Amino acid sequence: MRWPKGVDGLCYGGDYNPEQWPEEVWTEDVALMRRAGVTLVSVGVFSWSRLEPAEGRYDFGWLDRVLDLLWEGGVRVNLATPTASPPPWFSLAYPDALAVTRDGVRLMHGSRDTYCVSAPAYREASLRIARALGERYRDHPALAMWHVHNEYGTTCHCDHAAEAFRRWLRERYGGLDALNDAWTTSFWSQHYSEWEQINPPLATVYLSNPAHALDYRRFWSDEMLAHFREQRDLLRELTPDVPITTNYVLGHWVSVDHWTWSREVDLVAIDHYPSATGMEAAEQTAFAADLARSWAGGRPWLLMEQATGYPIGPRMYGKEPGEIARHSLQHVARGSKGAMFFQWRASRGGAEQWHPGMVPHAGPDSRVFREVTELGAALSRLPAPEAVNAEVAILWDEEAWWALQGSGLLPSSDIDYLESVRQAHRVLWRQGVTADFAHPSHDVSRYPAVLVPCLYLLSDESARNLRSYVEGGGTLIASFLSGVADEHTRVRVGGYPGALRELLGIRVEEFRPLPKPVALTDELRLRAAPQPENAAPAGTAGHAEAPPGLEAGATSSGLGDGRMWSETVHLEGAEAMARYPDGGPAVTRNAFGEGTAWYVSTRLGDSGYACLLAAAGVAGTGVPGMEVVRQGDRFFLINHTTEKQPVPVDGTDMISGMPVTGVLAPGAFAVVEARAENLA
Ligand code: GLA
Repeated sequence: MRWPKGVDGLCYGGDYNPEQWPEEVWTEDVALMRRAGVTLVSVGVFSWSRLEPAEGRYDFGWLDRVLDLLWEGGVRVNLATPTASPPPWFSLAYPDALAVTRDGVRLMHGSRDTYCVSAPAYREASLRIARALGERYRDHPALAMWHVHNEYGTTCHCDHAAEAFRRWLRERYGGLDALNDAWTTSFWSQHYSEWEQINPPLATVYLSNPAHALDYRRFWSDEMLAHFREQRDLLRELTPDVPITTNYVLGHWVSVDHWTWSREVDLVAIDHYPSATGMEAAEQTAFAADLARSWAGGRPWLLMEQATGYPIGPRMYGKEPGEIARHSLQHVARGSKGAMFFQWRASRGGAEQWHPGMVPHAGPDSRVFREVTELGAALSRLPAPEAVNAEVAILWDEEAWWALQGSGLLPSSDIDYLESVRQAHRVLWRQGVTADFAHPSHDVSRYPAVLVPCLYLLSDESARNLRSYVEGGGTLIASFLSGVADEHTRVRVGGYPGALRELLGIRVEEFRPLPKPVALTDELRLRAAPQPENAAPAGTAGHAEAPPGLEAGATSSGLGDGRMWSETVHLEGAEAMARYPDGGPAVTRNAFGEGTAWYVSTRLGDSGYACLLAAAGVAGTGVPGMEVVRQGDRFFLINHTTEKQPVPVDGTDMISGMPVTGVLAPGAFAVVEARAENLA
């Protein structure tokens, strides 16, 4: 991972789109950036039509002036290649390069991302504009980093995509026999006898083949990566000392395999927009930041975009006072090299004209800009991030998620992979336990415990990896539906959860989704230490509903109910730790080698899950909403609650210079370098 060139300290700034404004505003922008302590801005993300107004004719004059102004103002530039938004002339000249939906509808220009990554004309045009930018600005002193494209995620179903997909399949499978076998094409007469018979998963009459759909998602991740790599390699040749990145989009769908992509970028960069406000936003922020750090292999990464408000679906909620800073600090605490926003100045027109900005429509005389300025000052006092101390690993596999979003029948449509992983993370976050994420094939031997939520797909190799982890003394806590299918979505027969059966010491005969919750008999008296209830979020507005599974007034002793899912579990070496009302095992524990493997065959509420983790030896002493993250001896303390909260360390706050003595005020944050004698 590499640091943006010439940026001392943390990166602070956002997407800057000066082409939307008259030039006199640019001068004010740079003056305001200086006031706010901005160090880096992303420029040109969607500027293609202004940079290349007609094919092969360039207009760099305005961008020259912008870069010069920024340089003179001490602001460095994260210069984007504008390939996420081809100009109208491009789609008219190359209509075959426009994206086609699975229903065969060709999508016209008029928005952004109107291209097919597999179309040769688009690939050529992308390289041409990237080269023109690279050659023009390779020696510009403001150039700190390259930002290739924007949020890769656009897929297509056109003939170019079909051809590229077939090429990808040939490479993956070698021959049609292997493909037919992997896709189980003998089901519903889908056997392929020529490669040309294989299409993208187009609209069809009834359910379609899940293995086909999964490979199409894998293909797109690789195809988009090929587009990224072409630009990266070209820019790297022109500017070997300038790091190159792209910004990952996160959310309820995920377009690429981030483990693979993170090996290709010089710096992992994410965009994060919580889908809820208040405490849930803080939980989601920690989740996203931990993912980013894990993708980066534990090394620093960068929060490329967040918002000064909450653009959630059709509503633009405001952030409560202090939230902009607390969210930013969460990212920095979890290893981000700074905090960047979309966007610097809120647009006055265009599709995102109501999206919040660092400079809102009201201008600099506004609460938001004052908070932006205070945040810039706060970040300027912090040093570069160091390694974050994480105690537990949670497995995360985008392919398993894609399979659960599949196109065929699933045993229950209620299973939500993202929510299952978030629950595991959220329960730890509330106890102050910092988690890393890991791919199922990664070496996780340094973690005392590994959580495995709903890992539907599991290859033999990954199953062996988890087995040797437990054999070597680890504690594995797997929840239902993990390991039941292979990497081609084929069920592992003979009893679920196929790949993990021996490790877990059980055999599951039947899945039985639950129409309503059932009380679990906690016969071995699993009891967690009492957990404080979730505290109220700092600020007053809370637009999101309570997180699923967190019942009002619930106590956290005992496992509580099993929800949504149950199974007929037979013990084959494991012992039952909790049972269903009919006496069947619901939670099991198996001694395996030097370690222990737990299995939870139903969905627990948050307090039940916390109880289970405590029984398995995974528990923290934190207060929900009082976030504590350690980077070596440095403690990041962020109080998301409306109460003052105890903190485990005393010292001087690096941001305010004020002493921290065991407590933190509501909504406050501090960064304390702790000496051993100051640890509570
Ligand atoms: C993404 C994009 C930005 C902008 C924001 C809006 O992160 O990269 O261009 O559209 O969403 O939230």
